[in-house]
Amino acid sequence: MDKKNIDWENLGFGYIKTDKRYVSQYKNGAWDEGVLTEDDQVVLSECAGVLQYAQTIFEGLKAYTTDDGHIVTFRPDLNGERMEDSARRLEMPVFPKERFVEAVVKTIEANEAFVPPYGSGATLYIRPYMFGSNPVIGVKPADEYQFRVFTTPVGPYFKGGVKPLTICVSDFDRAAPHGTGHIKAGLNYAMSLHAIVSAHKEGYDENMYLDPGSRTKVEETGGANFLFVTKDGTVVTPKSDSILPSITRRSLIYVAEKYLGLKVEEREVLLEEVKDFAECGLCGTAAVISPVGKIVDHGKEICLPSGMSEMGEITKKLYDTLTGIQMGRIEAPEGWIKVIK
Ligand code: PLP
Ligand code: COI
Repeated sequence: MDKKNIDWENLGFGYIKTDKRYVSQYKNGAWDEGVLTEDDQVVLSECAGVLQYAQTIFEGLKAYTTDDGHIVTFRPDLNGERMEDSARRLEMPVFPKERFVEAVVKTIEANEAFVPPYGSGATLYIRPYMFGSNPVIGVKPADEYQFRVFTTPVGPYFKGGVKPLTICVSDFDRAAPHGTGHIKAGLNYAMSLHAIVSAHKEGYDENMYLDPGSRTKVEETGGANFLFVTKDGTVVTPKSDSILPSITRRSLIYVAEKYLGLKVEEREVLLEEVKDFAECGLCGTAAVISPVGKIVDHGKEICLPSGMSEMGEITKKLYDTLTGIQMGRIEAPEGWIKVIK
């Protein structure tokens, strides 16, 4: 299979149209069998539920070329499960996780020429999503839906790759108490747009959102969970009902304990204690682990001892082990790697 002529090493995190995408339609209470299509356009009623009341959810995962030339994806079953949870919370029909994995596999296979080569630093990002497609004018769930999967080759989410980021404590909330922060709903990201544009204008790379109830605890950023490392080498990650249960974070907790023999605490993290940590990173599919060097809380600078030029030592070990597992250099725990070919 000839690869596409793309400058893989210099890709950013953007959209490039690939050859095929998967579409399944939900009508009269059932999903159809689904097809792969070359048509990248979605034509909808002007009154479609997604356009009026934002009834849309999505997922994000990646396909990798391993060092021995296989194409694999990482824990797609967990994305399928999370999408089921997201659907239930927004009164959408569940697209069963087994079918989700099958659709992801088919879409990767159909776009094999776009899976970046091993060692290029790029990956194929996979975006499954679902939305209400029939006209809805009274506030209620749609009756018809589309589940789709497209792919796009991507480089690092943050410009500069693994250069430590500067983030600011946001005055905006991305989620409400008892709201939808724990699911992957488009509305959570719409909520965060003003906050991220404001942060960028002020020269920050990202926002640190606090818990919307008391605004004293660390939650997450607009697109990644936090990982901290204490001065004695314990990995600490915030626990909250209003953050997205990151698959990367859950995997890193396992890697930290079982591969690196580190102590891990999943607990509430007060903003007040952030100044005492040695390292900080953002973790997620797009972010992988992006190191944070500085956190600014209303003019007060918290400079992580790991500094502004390199990843912290433990963050780097976590990064190397996770990406090693994903790229086939390190043996994966059972069931983590789905081989496509
Ligand atoms: N938090 C938010 C708000 C996200 O959008 C993402 C990205 O998916 C994550 C965390 C990381 O989750 P995952 O590791 O499953 O990609
Ligand atoms: C992902 O990591 O897959 C996300 O959905 C986050 C988004 C910032 C791209």
